[in-house]
Amino acid sequence: MRIKDSVAIITGASAGIGRETALEFARQGAHVVLAARREDRLLELASQCEALGARAIAVPTDVAKTDDIERMVQAAMDAVGRIDILVNNAGFGFSGTVEETTEADMRELMDVNYFGAFNATRAVLPIMRKQRRGHIVNVSSVVGKLAFPYHGAYSATKFAMIGMTESLRGELDGSGITATVVLPGSTRTEFFDVQRTNDGHVSAPTGPQQDADVVARAIVRSVTHPTPEVNMIRMFRVAYGLHGFFPYLRDIAGRQFYRRSKGKARRK
Ligand SMILES: NC(=O)c1ccc[n+]([C@@H]2O[C@H](COP(=O)([O-])OP(=O)(O)OC[C@H]3O[C@@H](n4cnc5c(N)ncnc54)[C@H](OP(=O)(O)O)[C@@H]3O)[C@@H](O)[C@H]2O)c1
Repeated sequence: MRIKDSVAIITGASAGIGRETALEFARQGAHVVLAARREDRLLELASQCEALGARAIAVPTDVAKTDDIERMVQAAMDAVGRIDILVNNAGFGFSGTVEETTEADMRELMDVNYFGAFNATRAVLPIMRKQRRGHIVNVSSVVGKLAFPYHGAYSATKFAMIGMTESLRGELDGSGITATVVLPGSTRTEFFDVQRTNDGHVSAPTGPQQDADVVARAIVRSVTHPTPEVNMIRMFRVAYGLHGFFPYLRDIAGRQFYRRSKGKARRK
């Protein structure tokens, strides 16, 4: 898809990967609709995107609220009259055992990380179908395919995003609309500062780390060069292949991952 003059909604645009993605779309000539809860940050980002020549609107949005999602989509249509790209990026992390995760915590994680994306996707699809053009990018995680100990609740939300995206691609075949799932590894953002925990410890970045602008460029490239899946960490591509044949390897790797992560963990 040509980025210039297209309209992109980015959720979770007030920080990290979402912020960098909005700036990259603006740099490449797209108009951006910026959604997250912190309005002050969205307004500041909108000014930065406008300085790059883009039209930018800030729409304070809690993606866990269906009304907010509808308002976000309506605001985009009122302001620019079309939606070409939706990046479902808003989300937060959670560290702790499955056993001790309360139902309320699990539901909140699902509401933000999964239902936010699910509801936004459902809201834009009728518009994209009329346009016969659109691209939905869902930001999952490397732990959306391989789950490790003490990240079960968070991983479940990211597995759900991959399942939705894979199915959606088939359902949209021939419609002019497509979908991509992006799997970042540990990324230097506010993610590890704001993550929640049920055992008092928050995990630290483990394995290869990347900067948010690298993920942002991969997200934008997945629109210009449509692809089903963007895996940001090469060693995980090998791990997914091996996992299909030797699922026990995940348990061994999981133990290592946990030791390293817990070794670096700090009390919250
Ligand atoms: N950083 C990593 O290591 C990593 C690795 C793999 C995947 N990811 C995924 O990448 C995505 C972006 O994370 P990040 O690393 O950029 O983290 P971040 O710096 O903490 O940014 C998270 C963004 O999500 C927004 N958000 C959180 N809850 C929201 C809600 N209820 N409604 C609307 N927006 C909400 C935040 O904005 P407000 O607080 O202003 O609402 C913020 O803009 C997430 O889905 C995360 O799971 C991150």
